[in-house]
Amino acid sequence: MRSTPLHSRFGVEIHDVDLTRVTADDGYPEIRAAFESHSLLLFRNQQLDDEAHLALGALFGPIEDRSQGRNGPEPRMDNVTNRMADDRIAAPDDHVTLNLIANQLWHTDSTFLPVPALINILAACVLSSRGGETEFASTRAAWRDLPESLKAKARHAVVHHSAAHSRAKVSAELARLERYTKWGSQAWKAVWRNPINGEDSLYIASHAFAVDGLPEAEGRALIDELIAFATRPGTVYTHAWRPGDVLIWDERAVLHRGRPWPYEEERTLASICVSARDVDGLDGIRPGT
Ligand code: OGA
Ligand code: MN
Repeated sequence: MRSTPLHSRFGVEIHDVDLTRVTADDGYPEIRAAFESHSLLLFRNQQLDDEAHLALGALFGPIEDRSQGRNGPEPRMDNVTNRMADDRIAAPDDHVTLNLIANQLWHTDSTFLPVPALINILAACVLSSRGGETEFASTRAAWRDLPESLKAKARHAVVHHSAAHSRAKVSAELARLERYTKWGSQAWKAVWRNPINGEDSLYIASHAFAVDGLPEAEGRALIDELIAFATRPGTVYTHAWRPGDVLIWDERAVLHRGRPWPYEEERTLASICVSARDVDGLDGIRPGT
């Protein structure tokens, strides 16, 4: 597969692949190998409908129910969008918009769920006239470059995550909604070792709110310091969306965030997450292992 780098530290664009034709035996092994090495993959000029999007995700593992039950029992597509069920564009102060604004904090998806995510597959649907980029930073490269003093603090840290915590940074009212409080919190080690290549990466997110054994303020200061280090100038890849773009990223090894756009315009991306399994190294981030 022909590929070109997106950033000096991580990420590649993969050329000449039609994602609707990828199967477990044809294409997926090469894509999976590139994913393990580069953490972020871009495919341009794709035409993924929902069915093909879900089929591609299923090659990586079990599809996560991103809607958290809102869409019924079967995991389905759950668009990242400000177009509401009644077809109107959400107002800037609507919960829908506020949730999308909370996505503009550096995060990893689903760290607050009982089973966290391995990947997100995000595909362009309706793009705004400006803004609305998605940004990424490698937490594998961050781990490599981390000063020894911070590494020592992070290496055995157990970090607690909740969706309500990240939503509260944007709106206290949003954070109180049942859809964000219902998961409570989850604790994971702050370093995820990739079982294929042995590479460690920082496993942190805007959802992180406490570190075992540290007073609350110190824990938060450590989390903030780690995120700030991982996303410092020069480390970030900014993806300016074009129609047909599909991004696949490794939730174990990158942080991401959305960027603002004119909220009166529609911005819709199709998204699914796939849950991580022990073969992906999930067993290694459980506290006490
Ligand atoms: C997501 C997400 C950011 C964006 O899909 O999980 O954070 O740019 N998206 O919409
Ligand atoms: Mn996200």
